[in-house]
Amino acid sequence: MTLQPQPLYFGPLRLESRYLLSPLAGYTNWPFRRAVRELGGLGLATTDLVNARALVNRSPKTLELIDTCPDDRPLAVQIFGSVPEEMRDAAQWLEGYGIQAIDINMGCPVHKVTKTGGGSAMMCSPSATVDLVRQVVNAVKIPVTVKMRLGWDDADLSAPNFARAFEQVGVAAVMIHGRTRAQGFSGQVNRAGIRTVVAAVERIPIIGNGDIRTAADAERMFGETGCAGISIGRGALLNPWIFPQLVHAETRSRSLQAADNPQAKACGYGEEVGLASPGYEDRLDFMARHFDLLLKQRGERHACLTFRKMAAWYTRVLKPGKEVHRQLVMLERAQDFEDIVARLRDLGPPASWQRDALPEIAVPKGPVSHW
Ligand SMILES: Cc1cc2nc3c(=O)[nH]c(=O)nc-3n(C[C@H](O)[C@H](O)[C@H](O)COP(=O)(O)O)c2cc1C
Repeated sequence: MTLQPQPLYFGPLRLESRYLLSPLAGYTNWPFRRAVRELGGLGLATTDLVNARALVNRSPKTLELIDTCPDDRPLAVQIFGSVPEEMRDAAQWLEGYGIQAIDINMGCPVHKVTKTGGGSAMMCSPSATVDLVRQVVNAVKIPVTVKMRLGWDDADLSAPNFARAFEQVGVAAVMIHGRTRAQGFSGQVNRAGIRTVVAAVERIPIIGNGDIRTAADAERMFGETGCAGISIGRGALLNPWIFPQLVHAETRSRSLQAADNPQAKACGYGEEVGLASPGYEDRLDFMARHFDLLLKQRGERHACLTFRKMAAWYTRVLKPGKEVHRQLVMLERAQDFEDIVARLRDLGPPASWQRDALPEIAVPKGPVSHW
């Protein structure tokens, strides 16, 4: 497959690349987003999901969730809720706050979200949902997008109908995680299902999402679904370089095609056109940069607590051994973090470390309603 990179627009908003960072509650805060942006290639990032009512009430905890910085652009804030007035007011406030796009969460299966009637529960009342989305679209000038799953379960793949209805009320793009609500994170991403959503709309971009870890995965997603862009969540925790790698692959593919080079035939997102994988030192540098930005955001205690959650994603790749893993998931002090990084630099990669090997994507544990 050869690539013809297309510009991606959300309404009037032109994105620098077709590759988006998916919202991952607890992970995709501005320090992580900013560290990823510094590597290049990211088209748009989205905040963790935030409760529209809490935003309207200016809850301090919720305001922390939308914390951003001037370099963290373009940024979408993802809101959830089922009361149209609250969703509308939250969107208007965010527009005034300087956010570039609003994303409505319609996929989250977690009880805390569905009990409000928001998240994946919105799939259960189609006309009220489309009406709510219409009200949000009409309330703001910035693009409004919706992120959803393919449907409630295999018997109810409602995403194509929703996507068509959303397009008619002015939604700028729809992100589809290619699983049903009932599936949780099990089984395969259903790319044929995403394709039916692409076929259901006339002009708005459909963004394919789910299990993208490598350039080959991205190529398959584009090829089999016809989607206009790709959103990457857990794969970016494992490999934040995925964004510049994908952009590089596109650029390289295009220049080979322009030169009418026979290699172009073989040139998709394959290894032969890829950027070199990050080395062990690059990965330590990224982890240190991420922690440094967490420190800048809200000081030592916050940085250590937030980093604990992320530590396992780093240790899955760096393989520093059980003791370092334990220290990182119980991190108490910035000095301890710095000592660990210095020690890992001195030791160099462990014998089992392979530059090009990426572990499988981890799956959240427990029933879907309780993640
Ligand atoms: C820990 C975790 C937190 C998530 N938080 C959100 C969220 O806040 N909003 C949302 O729309 N999706 C959320 N998701 C779903 C992801 O955005 C994405 O759709 C899903 O992980 C599949 O993409 P991936 O395979 O690239 O990770 C979350 C997923 C995980 C694993």
